[in-house]
Amino acid sequence: MKIFHQKFKLIEQLERLRKLGSDVGFVPTMGALHEGHLSLLKKSCLNNKVTVVSIFINPTQFSSSTDLSTYPNNLKEDCRLLKTISDEILVFAPDSKEIYGDKMYVKSYDFKGLDKFMEGEFRNNHFEGVATVVEILLNIVKPDTVYFGEKDFQQLQIIKSLKTKINIIGCKTQREKSGLALSSRNNKLSLKSKKVASNIFKNLTFIKSNIFNYKIEDLRNIVSDKINSFDQMNLEYLIIADEDKLVPTDSINYKKKYRAFISVFVDGIRLIDNIALN
Ligand code: PAF
Repeated sequence: MKIFHQKFKLIEQLERLRKLGSDVGFVPTMGALHEGHLSLLKKSCLNNKVTVVSIFINPTQFSSSTDLSTYPNNLKEDCRLLKTISDEILVFAPDSKEIYGDKMYVKSYDFKGLDKFMEGEFRNNHFEGVATVVEILLNIVKPDTVYFGEKDFQQLQIIKSLKTKINIIGCKTQREKSGLALSSRNNKLSLKSKKVASNIFKNLTFIKSNIFNYKIEDLRNIVSDKINSFDQMNLEYLIIADEDKLVPTDSINYKKKYRAFISVFVDGIRLIDNIALN
């Protein structure tokens, strides 16, 4: 397995491979890899001659320093998991200086309202940080195709709005048997909290099954009460919004596609999830 800490070495290697006619697939991550990431990597390996994964915990997208400092970080274990897919994957594991130079920065963007609700509302400047680092990474790797999970659906739509010429593929959220969406943050949950957290997906499927049986406002109230009835859970938001503009709605227009988006603190750990409704 080839690990690159310096971008110029990765760029050189990719230039060599591209001259041989290789197409490049890319999976940007912050490490703490799980089956969700591995499914993106499997897709990339299947469809591209060369696959690059970046492992970089991007400080500029965290709103809280505790969240950043407690984010799981284990490159050795990540590489072990990557090897189970392919020894050929190129791993890019830079430090902050390699990405940002001497001074960390975030660019300003007009996301045309895609960042107004949900994560954009509750995590200050989160998407500026994400877009900045994704643009930097895409400029280094210059992939033909880049893969993102739909668990971060708002992130996926925001990255698509950057209008890069790169093929951007959104991939289905991977879940535990209980329905809990796979996330690096699940590592912080006890077995008991994990069990309680599986109610997040149960409630999302309840919304999907009942979207035409109740008024949206009533459905939101029912599910909010159900979530908050667990001592360990605290709902941050539950929003039904259209997939294209990500604007919350109180009624379904049959011509559009909608998703329910949720954020819940489970024993203090913030988990997000979403489900396609129609
Ligand atoms: O989804 C993530 O893991 C991160 O937001 C990303 C896209 C790697 C940017 O740091």
